[in-house]
Amino acid sequence: MPAMKNIVVLISGRGSNMQAIVKAAQAERWPARIAAVISNRADAEGLAFAASHGIPTAVVSNKAFATREAFDAALAQAIDGFQPDLVVLAGFMRILTPGFVEHYAGRMLNIHPSLLPSFAGLATHRQALAAGVKVHGATVHFVTANLDHGPIVDQAAVPVLPDDTETTLAARVLEQEHIIYPRAVRMFVEGRLRVANGLVRIDAPATQPA
Ligand code: GRF
Repeated sequence: MPAMKNIVVLISGRGSNMQAIVKAAQAERWPARIAAVISNRADAEGLAFAASHGIPTAVVSNKAFATREAFDAALAQAIDGFQPDLVVLAGFMRILTPGFVEHYAGRMLNIHPSLLPSFAGLATHRQALAAGVKVHGATVHFVTANLDHGPIVDQAAVPVLPDDTETTLAARVLEQEHIIYPRAVRMFVEGRLRVANGLVRIDAPATQPA
């Protein structure tokens, strides 16, 4: 049995991706525990779900710090108190400093609601509709200093339908996020992701001994 890995999840709001990860970890008995859910906003709805599942929660408010560096230092201190093997950004709406990203190099994942490298940044569904793309989707990637452009772990595509609004398109994408994010996190905790030259290679699942 491999050692249990500690996952710290960062959220800013609803936390539906975090919930999907918590549920999958429990249902599939991952060799991992959700060690903490940390938010930069005290009013993040996801905190209540975490607390009700017995997961420690913490709030590090960005408003309490004068600079990004000071906030990121406090955030890192809170995260590192839980000895994370993996940091999962799940709707965490902050731009991270290079020092913070470097500190978690190779052990921090993000989900972005577009098929990267298309539509980095905010309002991805509006960007997709404005561009007239016929497929859209979501990407799980390792976090690097280049915003929304780290090595890609997994993606899912959805059709863009003629009558789509940002809301309907976002909902279709979110459904896929809840599938690919838990799957990617699971592959990480199983030690199956290898990054070389900016590309992710996925090892086959370990076979059960006969
Ligand atoms: C998701 O669409 C995620 O990809 C984006 O923000 C949204 C967060 O949703 N970065 P939730 O907080 O996980 O419900």
